[in-house]
Amino acid sequence: MDTVGIVGAGQMGSGIAEVVAVAGVRALVHEPHETPLHASEVRIAASLAKAVNRGKLDADAAADATGRIIYTTALDDLAECQLVIEAVTEDRAIKCDVFRLLDERLPREVILASNTSSIPITILAQVTSRPDRVLGLHFFSPVPVMALVEIVPGYATSPEVIAATEGFARQLGKHAIRSKDRAGFLVNLLLIPYLAGAIHLYDAGYATREDIDDAMTLGCGHPMGPLALCDFIGLDVIDGICGCLYEEYGRDEFAAPPLLRRMVAAGALGRKAGRGFYEYSPARSAALASR
Ligand code: CAA
Repeated sequence: MDTVGIVGAGQMGSGIAEVVAVAGVRALVHEPHETPLHASEVRIAASLAKAVNRGKLDADAAADATGRIIYTTALDDLAECQLVIEAVTEDRAIKCDVFRLLDERLPREVILASNTSSIPITILAQVTSRPDRVLGLHFFSPVPVMALVEIVPGYATSPEVIAATEGFARQLGKHAIRSKDRAGFLVNLLLIPYLAGAIHLYDAGYATREDIDDAMTLGCGHPMGPLALCDFIGLDVIDGICGCLYEEYGRDEFAAPPLLRRMVAAGALGRKAGRGFYEYSPARSAALASR
């Protein structure tokens, strides 16, 4: 691949654009309005600066990567891409609208991938006229740091499209695993019951938030405890994934815990909102981002 589009310039879309550009591929980042594109540019610049400071990238490579990212509000600019990765809000109706639009506006040969964390790929593929050229390509946050991508073929995805996307994952230096097209794929099927379990323990007053998190960081070597990880991912995102998993499997372990739902209703969405299971002052959020 030499030119890849990214639709949606939030945390995931920006991270994907960054790793694409660092891998030497042109990244065309699309949003319908300028403001999120400016925010994405700032976010990517900060992440590249951190990579340079940590000795992961040299300054020239970071400058070259910056030069390979093009921000656009014109969807038709993505027509020159071999692959377009959708990374908009985790909402089935919104994603279906985006896939319909991409299918209408982009040439037939463009591969359409979704960074969805739980929505079945076949549902997104079926709103297009090219279900054989649609698949899941799921990255993990923070995208420049996490080595994994999940590749999720839909019911009709062609072997040639799967092979091309696996080649692209290698081009990015990511480790690809393949999952069946079932809600949650592999990672969230394992992760969500674990996070929900921690929320239930906390809600029941079984232990403090710090002790629950220390249990897993110090006891099992996880980089973050489950409640800190919930805040990092975003409680609204976890709530959405629980909804998808519960709809697919109907098992209690996937149901959104009542405390999670109340916190979402109260706007306590985690780091991005300044409060979740922990409090994040602007100074603490900036310190966490620059660490
Ligand atoms: N670019 C490149 N490398 C970077 C970087 C950047 N912008 N920022 C940090 N790094 C590197 C650092 O150099 C460091 O590398 P070494 O270990 O080789 O020294 C490593 O990343 C860790 O960085 P920090 O020391 O700055 O950060 P930390 O120790 O505070 O860890 C964290 C931060 C990486 C987020 C860590 O806490 C972690 O791994 N947490 C778990 C994250 C996780 O589970 N993510 C998946 C969420 S699930 C998801 O995304 C999918 C979904 O569908 C919900």
